Amino acid sequence: MRNDLAHHLLPVVEAAAVASARHMGRGDRKHCDRVAVEAMRRAMDEVPMRGRIVIGEGERDEAPMLWIGEEVGRRGPGDAAIDIAVDPLEGTNLCATGAPSSICVLAAAEQGGLLHAPDCYMDKIVVGARCRGRVHLGAPVAENLRAVARAFDREVSDLVVVTLDRPRHERLIAEIREAGARIRLIGDGDLAPAIGACVRGTGVHAVMGIGGAPEGVLSAVAVRCLGGYMEGRLVEHGPGDRERAGKMGITDFDRVWTAEDLAPGERLLFVATGVTTGDLLRGVDFFGQGARTHSVVLESAEAQRVRFVDTIHVEDPDDIEIRL
Ligand code: FBP
Repeated sequence: MRNDLAHHLLPVVEAAAVASARHMGRGDRKHCDRVAVEAMRRAMDEVPMRGRIVIGEGERDEAPMLWIGEEVGRRGPGDAAIDIAVDPLEGTNLCATGAPSSICVLAAAEQGGLLHAPDCYMDKIVVGARCRGRVHLGAPVAENLRAVARAFDREVSDLVVVTLDRPRHERLIAEIREAGARIRLIGDGDLAPAIGACVRGTGVHAVMGIGGAPEGVLSAVAVRCLGGYMEGRLVEHGPGDRERAGKMGITDFDRVWTAEDLAPGERLLFVATGVTTGDLLRGVDFFGQGARTHSVVLESAEAQRVRFVDTIHVEDPDDIEIRL
């Protein structure tokens, strides 16, 4: 994988964010998603890589673009072969309603560096670097929270746990409350808080509960680049999930995966751009002559880097006033 790939892939994710943010709050989540997909797909053609989508738009709904197996990139003779996972708009409802924390996301690794996860659910626990190896999916909720509190040298009552607000989490929510921690219930989008849990100062100490498995693999890439810790276990969403997972090469559906298992690549790259403002990223700002985006670019391997990128996209160079 080329060292400058991050430089080429950042505009791909920024383009998706600008496109979807244009439709923020208009109530049409499918449209927000569609424009993000189209913008991402278009921008990918400019990237010097031989890319293959391994996690993309709807494994089952025959998406016209960014489908699993689709070959993307400029595909020149010397371009490196890489696997790509995308969530062109994570939190489609959040964008459609103007709620916080919708993001556009892309992750990349050398071939074979990302688990080909089926589009089913995954039970997840995500924590930051201090809690590495101290929490486990199989452990009681209260025990995990005590371990997180100890790692941060705090009381359990100081912690904030992010959980998707879903009926399936009734018991989990009750257990977190019983243990004494505070909860932030979110309507959608468990990937942004998973990144947040690995960054001090976001106010997120753990993400717990069942969300999408593709989002789980994308979270794992960010977790690995940020030195955090994660465990995930596939959960059946509907009939045929086990069989589909088998066809994608997963022989043990019930196993617990760490971030290292979900994203085993040696050279990982993760890019997220804010669509609506959240804990970590500001949303897209339009200002007449252009747009401003805020992104995080994470890289693992020898060049481990965490970059926050604030880009002003100038539409009309003759009529522009740059502000701080
Ligand atoms: P979309 O971006 O497709 O709208 O999905 C967002 C999301 O909330 C994910 O962040 C989460 O992992 C998953 O959906 C949860 O699925 P469900 O809404 O079925 O509980």
